Amino acid sequence: MERLQKYIANSGITSRRKAEILISEGKVKVNGQIITEMGFKVSKNDVVVINDEVLEVKEKRYLVMNKPRGVVSTVDDEKGRNTVISILPKELAGYRLFPVGRLDYDTKGVLILTNDGEFMNTLVGPKSALEKEYLARVEGEIIKPDLKKLESGVVIDGYTTRKCKAYLSDVDHKNNSSLVGLVITEGKYHQVKKMFEAIGHPVKRLTRIRFGEVTTEGLGEGEIRDLSPHEIKKLIVNSKGNKKL
Ligand code: URA
Repeated sequence: MERLQKYIANSGITSRRKAEILISEGKVKVNGQIITEMGFKVSKNDVVVINDEVLEVKEKRYLVMNKPRGVVSTVDDEKGRNTVISILPKELAGYRLFPVGRLDYDTKGVLILTNDGEFMNTLVGPKSALEKEYLARVEGEIIKPDLKKLESGVVIDGYTTRKCKAYLSDVDHKNNSSLVGLVITEGKYHQVKKMFEAIGHPVKRLTRIRFGEVTTEGLGEGEIRDLSPHEIKKLIVNSKGNKKL
C-alpha cells in the first residue's frame, strides 16, 4: 500500500507536489470515489482515475546509458535537438523514462534513466552523497597544488564545494593540456566545469566514467542496458550512506 500522491508521482505522469494539487482539487478518483484526503492508501489492485483517465502503472525500469556528446539530457528539447529519450530504442517509448540528473550537451558517459521518481530523488536529492567520477581534459598543465585546491573545495557561484578526490592522469606538454580525474559527491549545475574554471584551467572535454558503482563498461556510445538488482540496491544504499569523501 502506498500514499495516493506518491503512487501517482511514481507512475511518472507528474510530480508529487502536482499530484497533491490534483487530489485537493477533487480530480482523483479511487475505485469510482473522489478522494481528497492526502494520506489515502492505494495498491496496484485499485483503479485510480485522474481527470477521467485511468492511471496506467508501468513496470519500473532502471537503465544506464553511455550518453554520447551532442545529445540533451532532458525528455524534450524546445530546439528540436536529440535527447537521451529520443535516441532510446522504440520498445522503451511507453515507459515514461527520464534521466537521473543531467549531463551537459557536450559531456558524455554514464547516465542513469528510470521511471521511478522516488529512486531519482534518492540518488540526486540534496542529501545524496553518491560518488560521481569524471575525467576532464583541461587547458594547461595541472600540478599538485591545483589538485589540492580542488580536493579541499573551491568557491563556485558563492558556494564552497564539498571535499572531493582529484588525480592527475596525464599531461600533454605538446598541446598544453592535462587529463584529470575528479570524484565528487554533489551535483551542482555545471559543477565540474566551474570547479576547473575556478582554478584557472577551463575544461575542453568532459566524460563521466562512474555514477556510484555503475560504469559504461561494454556499452558503445548511445547504448543502454538494464541495471542489475544489485546495482540498483547499491545506488540506493550509497546515496543514503552519506559517505563523505
Ligand atoms: N559537471 C559539469 O560541468 N558538466 C556535466 O555535464 C556534469 C558535471
